[in-house]
Amino acid sequence: MLFEKQSYSLNPILIQATLNAIERQRQKEAADPVALARRAGFEPDAWQSEVLRSEAKRQILLASRQSGKSSTTALLLLWTALYKPKSLSLAVSPSLRQSVELLRKVKDFLNALPDASGVDGESTLRLEFENGSRVVALPGSERTVRGYSAVDLLVCDEAARCESALWYSLSPMLAVSQGKAILLSTPFGRRGFYHSTWMEGGPEWERTKVTAAECPRIAPAWLEQERQQIGEFWFTQEYECSFNDDVSAVFRYEDILAAADGNITPDWSIGNALG
Ligand SMILES: Nc1ncnc2c1ncn2[C@@H]1O[C@H](COP(=O)(O)OP(=O)(O)O)[C@@H](O)[C@H]1O
Ligand SMILES: [Mg+2]
Repeated sequence: MLFEKQSYSLNPILIQATLNAIERQRQKEAADPVALARRAGFEPDAWQSEVLRSEAKRQILLASRQSGKSSTTALLLLWTALYKPKSLSLAVSPSLRQSVELLRKVKDFLNALPDASGVDGESTLRLEFENGSRVVALPGSERTVRGYSAVDLLVCDEAARCESALWYSLSPMLAVSQGKAILLSTPFGRRGFYHSTWMEGGPEWERTKVTAAECPRIAPAWLEQERQQIGEFWFTQEYECSFNDDVSAVFRYEDILAAADGNITPDWSIGNALG
């Protein structure tokens, strides 16, 4: 007979050793979100580890497209839910679609854990854990976020594209809970709460800047090609963390200055032609 029937008697010493190992890992993760990230199969870059381990109550990330900023905050949302029982975390962004996308990253990390359990209820808009924690995805409108209070972690993705009113209604929700806020974005012009927070938010804001050139997963040759294709204005904004003029402006500030050299004669014939 190829397979002999074996009796798998439960060895109490083995069981105890396994329980001890689980408890040690739990304590390690409770003290260090990077340990949770690794168990989910994610090896953070150095800056991602710093963001994950930071104890600052206010963090602002100014980072290139595809640098890994959403993944980092998704891990922190998961860590907060798992290791702060009864916590409330909000994922906010300019649109519900983007917030749901961030929540999906949280679920993906949860499902990547070998013992993916602990979820009590879920929908595309929220995750509820057995320990009473919640992670909720919200659209970026000031009116819809108002109902929440005592928030433990607030993540505002693509913050440069969110209305300032949104931030002013979100910020008080952190007061009682002494919660943490993380604003993350690529730049989007020299305006709005994200830009002013980055520029003059004060020392309570911990700033992290990551350009595409600093990201190990973005090839320099690809970046050069992208620069040729999308032009300096977009390239410096999307990949080099540059706060350029408002993209809706018809002319860039520098171009207006450059054009004002006194040698340009107005073409009055255009006005005449218009009558
Ligand atoms: N440390 C990392 N190791 C491996 N892949 C990563 C890491 N950080 C991010 N990524 C991957 O890079 C891609 C972009 O990540 P994402 O978090 O969406 O970036 P961003 O929000 O900055 O545009 C995703 O496919 C993500 O899985
Ligand atoms: Mg993102």
